[in-house]
Amino acid sequence: MTSTTNTSLQHDGRGIEPRPSFWRKVAEGIAARLKRMRWTRLGHLPFRRLTPISRDWGSERGEPVDRYYIERFLERNRQFIRGNCLEVFDSAYARRFGTTTRIDVLDIDRNNPRATVFGDLQRLDAIADETYDCFIMTQTLQYIPDLHAAVAETFRILKPGGTLLMTVPFLIRLDDNKTANDFWRFTPNSVRMLLGKHVADGDLEITSPGNVLTGQAFWIGLAQEDLRARHLAHEDSQYPIIVTARATKPARGRQDGRAPERPTPAAP
Ligand SMILES: C[S@@+](CC[C@H](N)C(=O)[O-])C[C@H]1O[C@@H](n2cnc3c(N)ncnc32)[C@H](O)[C@@H]1O
Repeated sequence: MTSTTNTSLQHDGRGIEPRPSFWRKVAEGIAARLKRMRWTRLGHLPFRRLTPISRDWGSERGEPVDRYYIERFLERNRQFIRGNCLEVFDSAYARRFGTTTRIDVLDIDRNNPRATVFGDLQRLDAIADETYDCFIMTQTLQYIPDLHAAVAETFRILKPGGTLLMTVPFLIRLDDNKTANDFWRFTPNSVRMLLGKHVADGDLEITSPGNVLTGQAFWIGLAQEDLRARHLAHEDSQYPIIVTARATKPARGRQDGRAPERPTPAAP
C-alpha cells in the first residue's frame, strides 16, 4: 500500500477507473490555463500547427517581429540619417530616426499617395547623380528582379560620403502583394557580394540579427508582444530574420573603392 490514496478512483468490478467528471474537470482546467497563457510561456512553440497563427506577419496581434530588428538597426545608425534623404514607400523611418533637411519618398507604385518620386529602382531616370546623403531602403530589394542594376542606381544617386541603410529579408513568408513580385531572400554573403562592388570593406557593415526563437515566432505569425524583451534582444547570427547593411559611398577621390592614402604628416 502506498502512502498516496486517490480518492477520485472508484471500483467498477473490472478494475480501477477514473471518475469521468473529475478528470474532465482537470482537463478543462488545464485547457483554460493553457488558453490564457501566451504561446511562448509554454516553453515551446506549437510545432504541430499546419496553418500560421497570422498570415499578416502577426500584425493583428501587435508589431511584426522583423520590425524589431529593422528599427534597432536604424536606431543604431541614426547619425547617418541626415541631410537630403530618400526612403521607399513612406517617410516614417527618416522622420522617426533622422535629422534631415529634406525627405523624398520613392515608389514604383503610382497609386502610393505618400510617394514624391515615382520610378523603378532599376533605372531611376528621374533622379540626378549624387542627390542624397542617405537612402533608407528597408525590405524592398526582394521585389527587384535585377539586383545589380538596382544597387548600381542606388550608389549613383548617393552623394560621395552618403550612406545606404538597407535591410533585406532572410526569413519571411512569400508576399502576395499584387503590385510587387517577391523574388529573393538574402544571406550576409549575397549582400556583401552585391554591395561590395561599390564600397570598400571598411565602409560596409553587414549584420544578420534574429535567433531561433524569434525566427519561429515570426514564421508562424506571432508578434513582438508575444515575446519577452530578452527573447528579442538575443542575437544568433546563424539564425537571422533579416540582413542589414550600412554602406557608405566612397568620398570623392576614392571612387575606386580603396581606402584613401593617409596624408603625409607635415615636417616639424
Ligand atoms: C514593403 S515596401 C518596403 C518599404 C517600407 N518602408 C518598409 O520598410 O516596409 C516595398 C515597396 O517597394 C516598392 N517597389 C517594388 N518594386 C520597386 C521598384 N522596382 N522600384 C521602386 N520601388 C519598388 C513597392 O511598391 C513598395 O512600396
